[in-house]
Amino acid sequence: MFIVSPSILAADFSVMGAEIKKVEKAGAKYIHLDVMDGMFVPNMSFGAPVIASVRKTSSIIFDVHLMITEPQRYIDDFLKAGADIITIHYESCEDPLSVIRYIRSKECRAAIAIKPATPPEVVYPMLKELDMVLVMTVEPGFGGQKMKPECLEKVRAIRTYANENGIDIDIQVDGGLTPDNTKMATEAGANVIVAGSAVFNAPKAKVVIDQMKRASELYPFGSGLGERVDVGKVRKRG
Ligand code: DX5
Ligand code: ZN
Repeated sequence: MFIVSPSILAADFSVMGAEIKKVEKAGAKYIHLDVMDGMFVPNMSFGAPVIASVRKTSSIIFDVHLMITEPQRYIDDFLKAGADIITIHYESCEDPLSVIRYIRSKECRAAIAIKPATPPEVVYPMLKELDMVLVMTVEPGFGGQKMKPECLEKVRAIRTYANENGIDIDIQVDGGLTPDNTKMATEAGANVIVAGSAVFNAPKAKVVIDQMKRASELYPFGSGLGERVDVGKVRKRG
């Protein structure tokens, strides 16, 4: 299933709830929530209390991207805040797999993100225990950057490895995605597209999301998470 996950980082934070409603209406299945701590990345955004607060405004799937050091310290907070998918960075802690196992033990989807310099092979041994891999296509920390096309080779490598080993996994790309380069990303094997500025800075979010959907039509990878079931309660993994 192909999914567009608009990144809230490019939205107007003073009306976050309304911004989420807008992209939901425009056809987005996820909202991508970028959490930055000023340590793992040289920028700060928001934390679990803000997510808990906007959780009340929408039942869209909350795709939470943690760009924070030692994320294990805060997993419970993000679970409680209503995250449906929690992504941690491979580079952010000693033992990412144990954090992934913890997240999944709480019936939440779990993903590993890799920065542009991290090789794809690091995720291979964990692939069976992941719901999604996030391949960063820019250096994490800021929205509005240009996509690094060389990162798509890592998407291709992970998709090939997954296919060869019979693993059905979602591959997300994040950073500089636009309707023009979505086809390149989906052709490489991505099926979840994060887009901040492309969606929120457009006069009509629906036009951009529809263009991205069309660009993906030939490449049906990954299963994706469908609708959210029970807001605030146990999440269903399907
Ligand atoms: C960057 C964040 C991205 C960012 C994407 O570190 O992880 O999610 O908001 O924004 P665009 O689509 O503008 O590159
Ligand atoms: Zn992100």
